[in-house]
Amino acid sequence: MILVTGGAGFIGANFVLDWLALHDEPVINLDKLTYAGNPETLSSLQGDARHRFVQGDIGDSALVSRLMTEYRPRAVVHFAAESHVDRSIHGAEDFIQTNILGTFRLLEAVRTHWSALPASHKADFRFLHVSTDEVYGSLAPGAPAFNETHAYEPNSPYSASKAASDHLVRAWHHTHGLPVLTTNCSNNYGPFHFPEKLIPLMIVNALAGKPLPVYGDGMQVRDWLYVKDHCSAIRRVLEAGRVGETYNVGGWNEKPNIEIVHTICALLDDLRPRADGASYTTQITHVKDRPGHDRRYAIDARKLEAELGWKPAETFETGIRKTVQWYLEHGDWVAHVQSGAYRQWITSHYEAA
Ligand code: NAD
Ligand code: TYD
Repeated sequence: MILVTGGAGFIGANFVLDWLALHDEPVINLDKLTYAGNPETLSSLQGDARHRFVQGDIGDSALVSRLMTEYRPRAVVHFAAESHVDRSIHGAEDFIQTNILGTFRLLEAVRTHWSALPASHKADFRFLHVSTDEVYGSLAPGAPAFNETHAYEPNSPYSASKAASDHLVRAWHHTHGLPVLTTNCSNNYGPFHFPEKLIPLMIVNALAGKPLPVYGDGMQVRDWLYVKDHCSAIRRVLEAGRVGETYNVGGWNEKPNIEIVHTICALLDDLRPRADGASYTTQITHVKDRPGHDRRYAIDARKLEAELGWKPAETFETGIRKTVQWYLEHGDWVAHVQSGAYRQWITSHYEAA
């Protein structure tokens, strides 16, 4: 079996759902259930013996050690993190605690278990660390996309904390021999995305008749990847990645934010027209820019393609249409997130560890 951390969050939950749709290999899902963790996303796995959900902190060394001893997973896939840049600007403490200290404690608990394994199991074990392109900082217009040797130049408290965690993972390999893999992915979008991030926020606000807040001039560029393509890249790296290597993951879909917002409005105008016949674009509002806002991210994913044969299945056009349709069809999920009802789910549907 494998141990997934942060598997009630956006990408982790998509990963667990896809994994169990493709494999029978069980998953232990360790998640603290912060505001970003939503067990309702995993409701289709209720009663599925292949999924064992454990509410807990990656920084709880005793808990992680107990899980490692009890379940003896062959791999750890580490998603758990504080992930929202704007929150990291308002308060970075949780980012330091989870992304840095939590990753350190997780690495140590995993290393202790791994060190005691028989030689053959030791060689086959993997610790896959899921990271972001934001560790590389901001690109000038026209500069080549980030490859794996690009210097780390993190600019936000979030990206600095992720950069620190990447360095710890690297050091645990070089110093202790832990068989690690790291992926650095561009911005994800798709089903079950918490509506504080750009794409789900715009869809949800548009449908609620609220303003669509675009930071600054809206010309900041992100490189968008459909979440299921990120999950397939992680599965491929876990399966065949070279130990100690990092792999950049992206879909060659650079877009300015304002274009993303216009695309969402156009899809909604088509799929769910406003009652007054006006376009959703009338709700676009330019607001104060984010401090330290990175201007451009772009990922060069050629290493992953050349070495491991990975390619995304979705284009931005197919992925964004699926995403908008998903939000239109899952009003209950959105309503429970907005009302906070999803936070009660744990008491009624899952047992705490
Ligand atoms: P998310 O915020 O949606 O989910 C994070 C999950 O981690 C939540 O379920 C939360 O409850 C859990 N968690 C937080 N602190 C924890 C702790 N101390 N112990 C256990 N669980 C804890 O994040 P996401 O968007 O799914 O991102 C997952 C990972 O992928 C993160 O490491 C992030 O840095 C990385 N990443 C995200 C993106 C993106 O576009 N969202 C892109 C590249 C990389
Ligand atoms: P976000 O989804 O927060 O991801 P990240 O900051 O990690 O890239 O934001 C994506 C882009 O959208 C980023 O340039 C900030 C911008 N943005 C807005 O313009 N308005 C918003 O309300 C949000 C949440 C983001």
